[in-house]
Amino acid sequence: MAATRNSGFDDPFYQSADQFFSANNHLALTFDDVTLATLYSEILPRDTQLDTQLAENLRLNIPVISSDMDTVTESRMAIAMAANGGLGLIHYNMPERQQLSEVSRVKNHVHGLIQEPIQVAPDQLIGDVLKMIEERKFAFGTFPVVDDKGRLVGLLSGHVVKPRYAKRKVAEVLTPRAQVHTIRQKELGKDPIARADKFFNERPGIHKLLVVDDHDHLRGLFTMSDIERITQERNAQFKPARDARFHLICGAAVSATRNAFGELDRERILNHVGALVERGVDVVAVSTAHGHSRGVGDTVKVLRGAFPQLPIIAGNVTSAAGVEYLAECGANAIKVGQGSGSICTTRIVAGVGIPQMTALYVCSRAAAKKKVSILADGGIVKSGDIVKALTLSQAVICGGIFAGCNEAPGDVMEIGGKLYKQYRGMGSLAAMKSGSAARYGHSSNPTQKVAPEGVEALKEACGSVDRVLAQLIGGIQSGMGYLGAANLTQLREKARYIRVSPAGMREAAPHDVVELKTGN
Ligand code: XMP
Repeated sequence: MAATRNSGFDDPFYQSADQFFSANNHLALTFDDVTLATLYSEILPRDTQLDTQLAENLRLNIPVISSDMDTVTESRMAIAMAANGGLGLIHYNMPERQQLSEVSRVKNHVHGLIQEPIQVAPDQLIGDVLKMIEERKFAFGTFPVVDDKGRLVGLLSGHVVKPRYAKRKVAEVLTPRAQVHTIRQKELGKDPIARADKFFNERPGIHKLLVVDDHDHLRGLFTMSDIERITQERNAQFKPARDARFHLICGAAVSATRNAFGELDRERILNHVGALVERGVDVVAVSTAHGHSRGVGDTVKVLRGAFPQLPIIAGNVTSAAGVEYLAECGANAIKVGQGSGSICTTRIVAGVGIPQMTALYVCSRAAAKKKVSILADGGIVKSGDIVKALTLSQAVICGGIFAGCNEAPGDVMEIGGKLYKQYRGMGSLAAMKSGSAARYGHSSNPTQKVAPEGVEALKEACGSVDRVLAQLIGGIQSGMGYLGAANLTQLREKARYIRVSPAGMREAAPHDVVELKTGN
């Protein structure tokens, strides 16, 4: 019979996680220090499954999360991440009110029925409507027209929302109620998307369907493009990550806020998270540089007590004791990584932190015992790093990889003919001045001298999140194919490791050639 199993000759060289990390317990290892050995495979990369359970109520379709950093994740990034099956954590370097509206933007993005469509009144001028579109940056120009009692009186088509009609009243140019296509709320049935899809099929050229109640009050709006996107998604390999109501999922960072006396400000934390939950947030992340600390533990305990069902991420830690502590406080998923981020200087400034693979191994053993998941946070620069991280964790958190994307906050700048976007550590002086000081255990008083633990930097602009994620996912699936792993659980079970020498590292990258095109 052909040899489909391991050969005994392999075993002393290519070791399981327990054997390998125990044998290397005198050395802190990171991604480039190790490589994974191939295994007999009947798995094609394209057939691998990437879904991952981070908490009872939190499942992702791909194991990738964008960092809660002010140059990485706001609503645009979170929408793109969730639309690809992952998760974005909205940062907290902004006023609470703004963070709430960022979360709302994600939760209200492209769902089948737009429950509160933007409306206009019959006596408004077209010029006012144009101004509203400009100010609120709407990408659409068709609006339902309702009277002061909320009753539908017509539809203002984008064809007439033009500067040449600016002085006209909406009432003069609207499509009258009798010609507007509507459906009664109670006729939507159990599958409103299928109902709307059928409607658009039956009426070629009609792109909007308004929902009304028995008294002709406007109750919602379907657009054909939303419905098409949703029906296409149902056939895609990696479906968007959605909640039970079919809204994209969204996470938000919170911090262990202190009051003027230096005590944990429980009331403020509870009010903040309460408001996030009201907006539909799916998970909160208590994000700090030192998660194995009383302030973080107490914050997690307060939140767990007040919101028993809410998935909680907490961190960061690099020890088994840190994982056990946060798990006992009530966290479901624990961020692992200290000083590994591409913009971090914690190891230089504080002399503290553990290279990622060793930290992940140690933490993963405690996490398995405590039945919590761990998230590999920081230091990931290529898809191969993600494959290695996923042999020990349930998902990865990336900042730098996404900071150059169109969907990251901030403008593109041109330097020497190349395009860049700003990327800065949340422990950099500039970010701490904007509010993230508490994350690094400093007072938010900008006049106080603090030692920054992060740098301000640039990332080359790299296009859309869709494009970047397609490359990363392709790499993850390829790695799983080499290991014969059909899903992430099998990847964790099957992985075997060996140390790489400096010459081996050189061999791993293109060498002794003149590169014409980079791999990506
Ligand atoms: P990457 O490598 O993906 O890392 O760019 C992102 C992660 O780095 C952490 N982070 C910091 N760590 N000083 C630090 O020591 C900082 O200023 C800083 N800012 C972010 C964070 O965990 C993030 O997800």
